[in-house]
Amino acid sequence: LHHSSTNIVWQETVITREIRSRQKMQTPLTLWFTGLSGSGKSTLANEVEKRLVNSGYHTMLLDGDNVRHGLNKNLGFQESDRVENIRRIAEVAKLMNDAGLITLASFISPYERDRTNAREIIGKEYIEIYVSTPLVECEKRDVKGLYKRARTGEIPHFTGISSPYELPINPDIEINTCHYSLQEATDHIMTKIVGYLTRD
Ligand code: PPS
Repeated sequence: LHHSSTNIVWQETVITREIRSRQKMQTPLTLWFTGLSGSGKSTLANEVEKRLVNSGYHTMLLDGDNVRHGLNKNLGFQESDRVENIRRIAEVAKLMNDAGLITLASFISPYERDRTNAREIIGKEYIEIYVSTPLVECEKRDVKGLYKRARTGEIPHFTGISSPYELPINPDIEINTCHYSLQEATDHIMTKIVGYLTRD
C-alpha cells in the first residue's frame, strides 16, 4: 500500500471530461452522504438516485457494503483502513465525475480529515450531505443487528460504540431522518441540490 508511483507523467485524454459531460447534457456532481451505520444514508442515496434517473440524469451509486465486497475487500474497520477506504472511494467518485456522471457515495466516512480530503480530491463537484440521525435512533432501529453485536464486543471498532464518528463541521446539507418521512427527506435534498443540477 505504501509504494508511491514514480516516473509517471499525467496524460491528457483526447476526449475531455467536458466533452463527456456535455454529451450527457449534465454537470457532474458527487453527492457524499456521511452518517452513522443505520442513519439512512443508503436508503436516501437510493431514493435521490431514483429521482435523478427518473428526471433523465446519468448517475452511479457507490455504497459501503458493496464497495467492500470488491474494490476494497482487503480493508477492515481500523482507522488506517477506513482512511484508505475513503481515499479510494473519493478517487473513484472523481473518475465517475470525469466520465460525466452524477455520483452518489454512501459511506460512514467518520473522520473529518478524510471528508476534507475527499472534498480536495473531488473538487467543486463535492456536496456533503450529513445524515444526522442520532445514535440512539440508529441503535433502536438496528436494521442489521450490528449494534447489538457491537455492544457485546463481538464486533470491534464499531462506529458510535467503540470507534469515533466526528461530526461534520460544515456540511452542505443536513438531514435528520427522525423528523421526516423518506419522501420528505428526499424532497429536502432535491430542493438543496437543484441549483447545482443543469441540463445543457
Ligand atoms: S467507513 O467508516 O466509511 O470506512 O465505513 P463504510 O465503508 O461505509 O462501511 C460501513 C458498513 O460496514 C458494516 N460494518 C461496520 N460499520 C462500522 N463499524 C464497523 N466496525 C463495521 N463492521 C461492519 C456496516 O454494515 C456499515 O453499513 P451501513 O450501511 O453504514 O450501516
